[in-house]
Amino acid sequence: PVPKILVCRTMPTSVLKAAAAAGKVELITRPDDEGEQAPSRDWVLSHLPGVSGAVICLSEHVDAEFLDAAGPSLKVVSTMSVGYDHIDLALVKSRGIRVGNTPGVLDDAVAELCLLLALMVTRQVPVALRTVQEGRWPSFPWTPTCFMGPSMAGKTIGFLGFGNISQSLANLLVPFKPKRLVYTTSRPRKFDAADGYFGSLVRGGFPVEGIAVENVDKMQLAEVADVVFVLVDLNPTTKHIVDKEFLAAMKTSAYVVNASRGGTVDTAALAEALRTNSIAGAGLDVIEGEPDIQASHPLLAPDCRDKVALLPHIGSGTTETRQAMADMTMNNVLGALGLRDEHGKEAVMDAEL
Ligand code: GLV
Ligand code: GLV
Repeated sequence: PVPKILVCRTMPTSVLKAAAAAGKVELITRPDDEGEQAPSRDWVLSHLPGVSGAVICLSEHVDAEFLDAAGPSLKVVSTMSVGYDHIDLALVKSRGIRVGNTPGVLDDAVAELCLLLALMVTRQVPVALRTVQEGRWPSFPWTPTCFMGPSMAGKTIGFLGFGNISQSLANLLVPFKPKRLVYTTSRPRKFDAADGYFGSLVRGGFPVEGIAVENVDKMQLAEVADVVFVLVDLNPTTKHIVDKEFLAAMKTSAYVVNASRGGTVDTAALAEALRTNSIAGAGLDVIEGEPDIQASHPLLAPDCRDKVALLPHIGSGTTETRQAMADMTMNNVLGALGLRDEHGKEAVMDAEL
C-alpha cells in the first residue's frame, strides 16, 4: 500500500497532488470549501491513524496526543512555517519522527514586512489612514507639523536575534544609512562583519562599509536602539524577552517591531509603556492570544491605538514566498519518505532544528 499523507490545509502547490497522481502517495485532504481554514482538533485526531506523513500549519499542535493518534506509521511531520513552537520537538524526535519546516524561503518577505511596520509606526500611518478612511481629512488639513515622525535614516537599529530574517532586514536597511546596528544572539552566527556582508546566507548582501555592527547584551540594546526588531524564535528563554524592564530601558523616542511570535513581547507591559509614553510606538505582526484579538484589546483602545500598527500575522505573505513555503512543506514530506521527485525543489529537512 502507498503511504498515506494527512494534509491539514490546502496549500498553493501541486507537489503532493502530482505525487498522488503518480500513485506514490494517498492524500487525506480537507473538504474543498474549507480546506484553507484550520481544521478542528477532532478532525485532525480522527484522520491521523495510520498516516505516514502529516502536513500542518501553526494551529496544529503536535504533542503526545497527536503522535499517539497517528501511531507507529508516522514518519514525518511537515509544517508550512519557519517557526516550530507548536511542535514538541524533543518528543517528536524521541520517537524517531522527522520534522520539516520552511527556513530560508521567507526571510526576505518577513524582512520587508518588518521594514513596512517600522515605517508605518514612525510615520504615524495607522492614525493617518484612519483619519482618511473615517472621512476626517477635512478636519485635519496639511499643517507644517501634522503627522510627523522620525526618519529611519541615520538611526541606531537593534535586532533581538540575528538569524536569517534579521540579516535580510539589515540588508534592506543599508540604504537608510543607519548609524549603527546592534544585535543580540544566542547562537554562534555564520555572520562575520569582516566579510562585508550581513551573512553568507543572505542573497545579494549589501556591503556594509561605514556601518558599525555590534553584538551587545539585551539591556544595552534596549538603551541605545531607536527601533528594536524582535526576530527570535519563541522558546522558554525568549518568552517575554521584551518585558517591563526592557521597555523601561528603551528611549522614550524608540519603537519596537515584532514579527516573531506574540509570546516574545509582554503585551500588558507594552500597552502600559505606550499609554505612559515610555516608548513611542509598536509595529506588530504577531501578538499574544492571536487570532482572538477583539477591537476592545488594550493595544487597540483609544489611548494606545494611534501608536500601534497591528497586522494579522502576514509576514511571509508574498505570493512567491507562500508558494515556495508550500512547495518546501510538501517536498519535506516526500523527502523524508524517500519519494522526492528528482526534479523537485531542494527539500530542507531538520534545518536549524
Ligand atoms: C510564520 O510565522 C512562520 O513561522 O512561518
Ligand atoms: C507638502 O505637501 C509640501 O508641498 O511641502
